[in-house]
Amino acid sequence: MISSEQIPNNVDLASNKRLQRALEHWQPRYLDWWREMGPQDFQDHHQVYLRTAISVDADGWAHFDFVKLPEYRWGIFLAEPVKDRVIGHGDLMGKPAWQEVPGEFRNQLRRLIVTQGDTEPASVEQQRKLGSKCPSLYDLRNLFQVNVEEGRHLWSMAYLLHSYFGRDGRDEAEDLLARTSGNADKPRILEAFNEPIDNWLDFFMFTMFTDRDGKSQLMSLSESALDPLARTTRFMLTEEAHHMFVGETGMSRIIERTCQLMKAAGGVAEDVRRQGGIDLPMIQRHLNFWFSRSLDLHGSEISSNAASYFSNGLKGRAREETFQDHTVVDTYYDMEVFEGGQLRRQEVLMRKAMNEVLRDWYVGDCQAGLDRWNKVLENYGLSDRLYLPDKKFGRGIGIYSEFHFTPQGESISAEQWERKRQEWLPSVEDKEYLLSIMVEPIFEPGVFANYIAPPRRGINRLPVNHEYVRTEA
Ligand SMILES: [Fe+2]
Ligand SMILES: [Fe+2]
Repeated sequence: MISSEQIPNNVDLASNKRLQRALEHWQPRYLDWWREMGPQDFQDHHQVYLRTAISVDADGWAHFDFVKLPEYRWGIFLAEPVKDRVIGHGDLMGKPAWQEVPGEFRNQLRRLIVTQGDTEPASVEQQRKLGSKCPSLYDLRNLFQVNVEEGRHLWSMAYLLHSYFGRDGRDEAEDLLARTSGNADKPRILEAFNEPIDNWLDFFMFTMFTDRDGKSQLMSLSESALDPLARTTRFMLTEEAHHMFVGETGMSRIIERTCQLMKAAGGVAEDVRRQGGIDLPMIQRHLNFWFSRSLDLHGSEISSNAASYFSNGLKGRAREETFQDHTVVDTYYDMEVFEGGQLRRQEVLMRKAMNEVLRDWYVGDCQAGLDRWNKVLENYGLSDRLYLPDKKFGRGIGIYSEFHFTPQGESISAEQWERKRQEWLPSVEDKEYLLSIMVEPIFEPGVFANYIAPPRRGINRLPVNHEYVRTEA
């Protein structure tokens, strides 16, 4: 019998027999998946200092303690309901928010939830081998914190599927555990979630840029007319903030160490590598890759799906309340398009441009993080700067994907692209080099790999040199 002690929740699981029965089937399968596809070599003999969501109170929602990964208490939490909440945008604006799924939007809503849900376990799978190359116990703990919370996000989506979508939902929840990242027969749904992340530079870039795409999507789903979906995703955002913290500060610390090594080498970027660090051009190439990959995740620039999600109230814009007009019936969005070898501006119906509106919000959110990275370079007195490549660069989805652009956004030929891409995107040699400096994990408290600076402070007011992951004999 499944109990509320096993599954912390605020959905009254104890008196919901139907949900209990559904989870009785699903939970053992989830645990099998976690053991098989979760962090490799850290399941049974390690105690990890982790936070666990135990409520949705703004102060005190999390509990910190040592736990073995498979014994983590994955819970189900929805943000507190807003009394008499009404739909905030689209054609149904002002009508009461839905507590059940309307038949006419069932397929669309299920698809949105499944697509979001699929990314959560996918990233755990992608990152499963990173533990044995960790730069410190502090970072190892952060990796596992991200992993268990992505696991909880999967729980959140499975909860919605089980509770609101009947038999189809049950099947979909099973399929979320059947697909696996990079699998030839049953891959994860979205392209960016099928590539392994086997070094820590990619991990930090992923949590900075791809988890931030997660933030974009959760922000827009938290505006949904389907109230349980809005409340679930709203609470997920609380945890998501830490994932981006891990990415942003992880990169800040790598950049800081790079600065120190550059100074030691008299300011020569290339010499950083000779000292075992990660040079700025290599950082920029990885930034280019993960940023453009994550732009792709926002979907096509002009999209009738996006229009219908907005019109029907299924998805809103990030911080919908900050906009004046919530129906945007005959409003246009100014967009750059590429036609006949020429860039030009085009006015696109706002509803059809919703993916682009969200993407532009995302770019601004990324830029704020970039500014903080550049502050580190500035503080070390270096003139080098990192930058976000142009939105058109390196795209695999959307109106620019058939053409080639420089990171500055100038159109170039396929031949020029082939000649230059090595300079702009991570190369095979980059990957080999990164693995070569991450061969040995560092398990000694307070010690950090040579390519990364220690953090300013530890987790939950503990010191930096705390033993965040303990090995059991
Ligand atoms: Fe997530
Ligand atoms: Fe995340």
